Amino acid sequence: MTETNDVRIVPLSKEHLDEVVRIERASFSDPWTRGMFESELDVAARGYARAAVRAGKLVGYLFAVIIPDEAHLGNLAVRPDARRQGIARRLLGELLRDGRRSGVRRVTLEVRESNGSARNFYYRNDFIDIAIRKNYYRSPVEDAIVMYRILPEDPSE
Ligand SMILES: CC(C)(COP(=O)(O)OP(=O)(O)OC[C@H]1O[C@@H](n2cnc3c(N)ncnc32)[C@H](O)[C@@H]1OP(=O)(O)O)[C@@H](O)C(=O)NCCC(=O)NCCS
Repeated sequence: MTETNDVRIVPLSKEHLDEVVRIERASFSDPWTRGMFESELDVAARGYARAAVRAGKLVGYLFAVIIPDEAHLGNLAVRPDARRQGIARRLLGELLRDGRRSGVRRVTLEVRESNGSARNFYYRNDFIDIAIRKNYYRSPVEDAIVMYRILPEDPSE
């Protein structure tokens, strides 16, 4: 069931970073550092960062780069106690909508091979596996699956 009516998707700013880093550490074995998030925000021209906020608190975030007809999704996470409520779907939906408006035709991302929940989330959102990058991740070393979704030219499709 989707219960995201009380969640707002807003541009992510430096004020969100304390909560971003907390959620990141709770979500990944090899979390991005605060400095990595800061530099993502600094590439403002190509970067895309959105926060999901409920009652003034960050519950999820998405970072992507638009290059320029492709969006590469670099990071997506939802606070553990807010999962399975449709928040990641809302964040992805916003990227797809904004991306289409600026000419994005495909979305790519890497995901750990063992990350079944994320892979299932992406399959449910019309992504397919297209490649394997051997030993792409550290802590622990693991292959990445490259996933891909094509966007229709006509946004009504
Ligand atoms: C992957 C992740 C972002 C999904 O966020 P979420 O807000 O819980 O996802 P949603 O509620 O929008 O899920 C939409 C659908 O995706 C699928 N899905 C999501 N989480 C799933 C899980 N743990 N197991 C199986 N399917 C899952 C389901 O089909 C779900 O619909 P349903 O709840 O009606 O069955 C979240 O689990 C997370 O933050 N994981 C840790 C970080 C991570 O792995 N990020 C991805 C890195 S590439």
